[in-house]
Amino acid sequence: MDDVTQFTPNLARYEALMDVVRNRLTSRAFRPDVAVPREHIELVLEAARHAPSGANAQPWHYIVVTDPAVKKSIADYFVAEATNRAKLKMKFPTPNYRGLETAPGFVVVAADFRFVRAFPVLLDGSDLDKKYQQNAERILLQSVAASTMSAHLAAAALGYQVWWVTAIGQDDAQKSLRPLLGVPDDLAIIDIMAFGVPAKPPYKRWKKTLPQIVNWGRFDMRNYMTIEDIEAWVRETRHKVMYRDEAKVD
Ligand SMILES: Cc1cc2nc3c(=O)[nH]c(=O)nc-3n(C[C@H](O)[C@H](O)[C@H](O)COP(=O)(O)O)c2cc1C
Repeated sequence: MDDVTQFTPNLARYEALMDVVRNRLTSRAFRPDVAVPREHIELVLEAARHAPSGANAQPWHYIVVTDPAVKKSIADYFVAEATNRAKLKMKFPTPNYRGLETAPGFVVVAADFRFVRAFPVLLDGSDLDKKYQQNAERILLQSVAASTMSAHLAAAALGYQVWWVTAIGQDDAQKSLRPLLGVPDDLAIIDIMAFGVPAKPPYKRWKKTLPQIVNWGRFDMRNYMTIEDIEAWVRETRHKVMYRDEAKVD
């Protein structure tokens, strides 16, 4: 290995990126008095545009919501959905979705799942095709997430804080929200990106350590959780890590 030379990384640029990555903190209420101008929304979505995607299909659409009445209707939907989930006893710790209507930056993310046919699929309805279809959907979702994450980091780089809201995947939600935004039936509204200046100081949430997520060469079984471990985590830890400062999680 004597002929291997060392690459000199650009640590200053890495640190600049990491400053943005570390300080992207979810905020769930924004100062409605501090506007996000159109140019800033374009700067944010310019980052979304450059994301990688399976087969370079770029199966995403961003709908910028500016009308306060539409923001309110969408927030109403989420508040109602949170009530439904509570009635269904899902026991999911729900935030206050009224915060959505305070977001000056409000972007609805739509995915075009018809693009699964751009990935390796058989399209013959066979059982084998179902397996390929499932993987194709994962490729598509990863692609849209890559693009959305780029937008979130761009917003954080500008100094805004962000909120990634997915509590809408279901079919009836799609039916209620599509007409509000003129979204065609064959597109799926998969999440909302809200951003702006936070109403309260944001805080850092608990993150796993590097050894807990990185495995060198082989999977480290110390990182493996049984289903019982996961159920205990959901019961005892989830609510703490979702809404608390990492410094206050015991
Ligand atoms: C795919 C995805 C879906 C999320 N869905 C919601 C959501 O529906 N409602 C919500 O309040 N937060 C949602 N969040 C925000 C997470 O709760 C938040 O990212 C997590 O608690 C970690 O906090 P941090 O973003 O400050 O690091 C979502 C985040 C991601 C990446």
